[in-house]
Amino acid sequence: MNGQIFMVDLHRQYLRLQTEIDLAMQQVLESTAFINGPQVQEFANRFAEYLGVPYVIPCGNGTDALQIALMALDLRPGDEVIVPAFTYVAAAEMVALLGLIPVWVDVEPGTFNINPALIEGALSSRTKAIVAVHLFGQSCDMEPILRIASQNGLYVIEDNAQSVGAEYTFSDGTKKKTGTMGHIGTTSFFPSKPLACYGDGGAMITSDPYLAERMRMIASHGQQVKYHHKIVGCNSRLDTLQAAVLNVKLSHLAEFAENRCHVAARYDEALRDHPAWLIPERRSYSTHVYHQYTLRVKNGRRDELQTRLKAQGVPSMVYYPLPLQKQEAFYGFARKGSALLEAEQLTREVLSLPIHTEMTEEEIDYVIRQLKENS
Ligand SMILES: Cc1ncc(COP(=O)(O)O)c(C=O)c1O
Repeated sequence: MNGQIFMVDLHRQYLRLQTEIDLAMQQVLESTAFINGPQVQEFANRFAEYLGVPYVIPCGNGTDALQIALMALDLRPGDEVIVPAFTYVAAAEMVALLGLIPVWVDVEPGTFNINPALIEGALSSRTKAIVAVHLFGQSCDMEPILRIASQNGLYVIEDNAQSVGAEYTFSDGTKKKTGTMGHIGTTSFFPSKPLACYGDGGAMITSDPYLAERMRMIASHGQQVKYHHKIVGCNSRLDTLQAAVLNVKLSHLAEFAENRCHVAARYDEALRDHPAWLIPERRSYSTHVYHQYTLRVKNGRRDELQTRLKAQGVPSMVYYPLPLQKQEAFYGFARKGSALLEAEQLTREVLSLPIHTEMTEEEIDYVIRQLKENS
């Protein structure tokens, strides 16, 4: 194998986009409008148009986006928020930080997303919101989630950090982009994400003018008019250089997803029906942008496989090694909303393979060969 295989190859992607990126960055450098330069609003407008919503409010990162979204809902300490037990920590962390109680709900093992059938059983009189995390590039099953939310007067926040570009189809045929179905969508532009900048960045997405205005104020010290602070806020901004990068990358988003889907299709074809693992499941209600391609290693030898692959130059990652109910940070105040057996099992089985926009056929072949030879 010539060259090194990476989980995500940002350098090669940069080289492909270099002329556009360098020009966009150079323009910011020459303007020196590093904070709130025109590229920030240009990106917010273009991203809103892409998503088909009226409001995108850029912010500093995806964790801030979740915090600001939760703050905008004006919840009270002790209110409960439904969170999937198998996911990145950010949503649970922001719930806890605001004095709210995370209520863990189990996930569907095939898609890794929250299991809507378990949500109703997890509700209490204190439940105020559901965080639906679209994990690894595929939408949660939003129709039942939205129905439960509307029947019970709950807010829905979609954490779309890993699935920008995916689309959900409702049973009446209506299609909506992930991040646009709940009251608020949030996302991260961390460099490895489907839509990514060259540092930290994030955004809140909404169709509700009241929530949009609240989130805009919260992200800017709670002010509408400079030095007049109406509500308690924070400081969370997407800087102009990052917005300039995002303006370039937004134009390539469809092609990025296509490239990753090609890798996933090659993996699917070569890796299905193998006794050692299960390939990730697709659902007809969602397109997939394959932020991750994650196997479930069923023979109990996931860690051994990972070590062997590493020795052959094939990186892999365990997203995530612990379910949230086992994270020490939440001991004592979170609540189990369902049995969490699938989440627990997944943490022992999952193995994410290299997948990115620049992978060559030779690299894909090599990963497949090494997987088969080392299982
Ligand atoms: C699902 C999910 N939510 C939120 C975040 C947090 O984003 P950030 O690192 O930009 O704060 C991440 C980042 O890894 C994520 O994967």
